[in-house]
Amino acid sequence: ENNVHICNALLSYYRKHARILPWRITPQQRDMGEMPNPYHVWLSEIMLQQTTVATVLPRFAAFIQRWPDFNALAGAQDEEVMAEWAGLGYYARARNLIKCAKTIAENFDGQLPQSAEILLTLPGIGPYSAAAISAISFGHRQVIVDANVERVMSRLCAIETALPVSKPLIKAATEGMTPNDNSGDFAQAIMDLGTAICTAKSPKCNICPLEKYCEARAKNIAEKLPVKAAK
Ligand code: ADE
Ligand code: SF4
Repeated sequence: ENNVHICNALLSYYRKHARILPWRITPQQRDMGEMPNPYHVWLSEIMLQQTTVATVLPRFAAFIQRWPDFNALAGAQDEEVMAEWAGLGYYARARNLIKCAKTIAENFDGQLPQSAEILLTLPGIGPYSAAAISAISFGHRQVIVDANVERVMSRLCAIETALPVSKPLIKAATEGMTPNDNSGDFAQAIMDLGTAICTAKSPKCNICPLEKYCEARAKNIAEKLPVKAAK
């Protein structure tokens, strides 16, 4: 089954080339039974919602130094948090971040709930973030579709239908490829491949670990995908 081969190629790419990011553990650490810190995963996913990794890195470091867990952040003054958020933009996210930390401190004993369904009820956590946080922090199987996944999947499967009509097709293709274990690493592998190799403007198909499986590569239409909605 091709999906299994693609999934395995992505997971082995991730083993060798995963970006080292302060909210992640390495696949090797996972092999040793470690899990990432759920507070770090939550904070990073909220910060990354509309902001690049490079911009997030220094803000993330400042936050975890100053407020190392949900209870600490819940006890902060709103103005202090807003000041540390400076530069990340979309200040409603910071307001929701504070509300979410307070809810977790008050109603969940300072521990992030594990299920995507419950995460989805918390301030600032939408369907994408709920799936990503639950998979990455706790190993739950979730189908995670961000902009990188949309781009890579529409190319792999040569989905020529325009966004957003293609979204259900992309979701179904991702669902069919997502492993039962390690769906968090699978998604993060696609994010890293989408950042380093399968980029929007100039996909480097000749060095891509998925080249032999990729339908857009075979048809020579990679740069044309995904087709965006007419404006
Ligand atoms: N963007 C959103 N979540 C991410 C993650 N876990 N790793 C890299 N980029 C991301
Ligand atoms: Fe993207 Fe090219 Fe790799 Fe296909 S072969 S996944 S288009 S980089």
